[in-house]
Amino acid sequence: MRKPIVAGNWKMNGSRESVSELVSEIISVGTLPCDVFICPPSVFFDLVGSQIADSPMDMGAQNIDWRESGAYTGEISAAMVKQSGCRYALVGHSERRTLFHETDVEVAKKFKAALDVGMTPVLCLGETLQQRQSGDTEEVVSSQLKTVMQTLSVAEFGQGIVAYEPIWAIGTGETATPALASEVHGVIRGLLQDQAPVLGDEMRILYGGSVNASNAAGLFAEADIDGALVGGASLISEDFVAICRATGTN
Ligand code: 13P
Repeated sequence: MRKPIVAGNWKMNGSRESVSELVSEIISVGTLPCDVFICPPSVFFDLVGSQIADSPMDMGAQNIDWRESGAYTGEISAAMVKQSGCRYALVGHSERRTLFHETDVEVAKKFKAALDVGMTPVLCLGETLQQRQSGDTEEVVSSQLKTVMQTLSVAEFGQGIVAYEPIWAIGTGETATPALASEVHGVIRGLLQDQAPVLGDEMRILYGGSVNASNAAGLFAEADIDGALVGGASLISEDFVAICRATGTN
């Protein structure tokens, strides 16, 4: 049985005041039926880390650098975010790939860097609207997955999580239908299965892209959707909590 997991990616949003308020509202509801983590901007790690210390909620980084240390102005290493309280690290988010030109090879290095310090990497995959319309979704997602998976042993890759986030659904209000998301999740699970049955059986695959309090339960009803990576709706505590609770309705 794969335990559902819901993550909030806050992206570049919030202030010390709003972050503090959001965290206390979420933790005030107590236990939720899934694993939960939030990814605040890194300058708020200390603040959020101290607030969640006695709660079941965890924290993740939105990005890490794969190098250990050195003259890389503005970058933050995996060890640094781990030391600041992060248990998870997103790697290869489409905004990093598109806006900051991250390649699959760099994403693979980030995945490994997270593992090396004992964090759980969350590998983000997804196609553009144009790639979907040209019928290339499967090829794009397969290639993004395989580039990372093939650099690691089964035991290593199996410590991570995969998040399917179609780019056309991110921040647009246009969610993939459960059937459409499930189709791609099935492809991803099939590729994991081909690599090793244990990966296919045990790896959690999250869906991301305009997930909200109304559409979450429908997505989670699909057997291959093990939770969500939530952007906009994770900035509203009631919506984020409702999404977390929706994992318990199946
Ligand atoms: P939205 O939920 O705002 O579409 O963002 C999804 C996302 O990018 C999460 O990483």
